[in-house]
Amino acid sequence: MTDRLSSTADGLSRAAELLRGGRLVAFGTETVYGLGGDATDPLAVARIFEAKKRPRFNPLISHFADADEAFRHVVPTASARILAERFWPGPLTLVLPRAADGAICDLAAAGLPTAAVRVPAEETALALLRAVGRPIAAPSANLSGAVSPSDADHVLEGLDGRIDAVLDTGPCAVGVESTILDLSGDTPRLLRPGGISVEDIEAVIGPVARVSASKTGQAPVAPGMLTSHYAPGLPVRLNAQSVEADEALLAFGSPLEGARVVWNLSETARLDEAASRLFAGLRYLDREGTRLGCRRIAVQPVPSTGLGLAILDRLGRAAAPRPAVQERSVA
Ligand code: TXA
Ligand code: MG
Repeated sequence: MTDRLSSTADGLSRAAELLRGGRLVAFGTETVYGLGGDATDPLAVARIFEAKKRPRFNPLISHFADADEAFRHVVPTASARILAERFWPGPLTLVLPRAADGAICDLAAAGLPTAAVRVPAEETALALLRAVGRPIAAPSANLSGAVSPSDADHVLEGLDGRIDAVLDTGPCAVGVESTILDLSGDTPRLLRPGGISVEDIEAVIGPVARVSASKTGQAPVAPGMLTSHYAPGLPVRLNAQSVEADEALLAFGSPLEGARVVWNLSETARLDEAASRLFAGLRYLDREGTRLGCRRIAVQPVPSTGLGLAILDRLGRAAAPRPAVQERSVA
């Protein structure tokens, strides 16, 4: 059984106690719910992989209550400090060299010389991180390959009985995962578009290199960047200009006519609203579309600026050809 803990002092102290004891607690962040475990404890980290049925040991993001805490475990560059000052707490993850005396365990970093760190912008999450006082590894709290969870019900749909508790902090405000920026090399590289737009980052530190998500035959830079991900059960068709009779519709702005079931990301075509409603919409259309006998989910075009880049990235993966289950290696 997985306990649903409320976002009260009692719920918080129970969650902290579980995490300190090496147990798993999902908790809300501003992006998506994370499946938290002590990043300094290889057993706890192994439990995360097991609970998610993650087929390979991808590196995990470690979460901290503030930048000083984070920078005790990695070596910050000047850009890292500036970005932390500007965007933390917030949906930005920095990949930096691990500090020689850092406590993030090898399994959490998948043996890499670098580690991904972030300070989330959710009050309860921050209070939890402060209470635990250790790096908390937290991939999205879904079964591997499935749609990310943006509320506590979504977490339980996939992980009930597989984790110790979920700390219910309500729906996530941003709704897509953090932007991942690799600062460990000579030039900053965008590994995953996310909640902070690359334009906003470039306004602070200058040009950022984009890394192509799927260069076949090449090892992915961020292992979670493999193509098929965030996949609902129904196939997904992007850039729909019209809807077929047996399709469910993920609309953006003015909805196309003729779908059996519609979820509008944002009637007013706002990208922030669309991001916050994306994963709930994919889940809804998957469930209702299947019930109504739909064959597919059609998706209206979304612009590729600002948060649109993160939305299109997730939709592109949801639409990608599905590899055999054992081939999937995703966050
Ligand atoms: O918004 C988020 O980032 C959420 C919330 C819970 O914080 N977490 C999340 O974690 O999306 P996850 O595990 O689903 O995605 C982490 C990504 C993976 O693609 C992983 O490969 C990449 O971060 N990553 C982690 N450490 C890395 C490293 N040292 N170098 C490159 N990529 C890394
Ligand atoms: Mg994930």
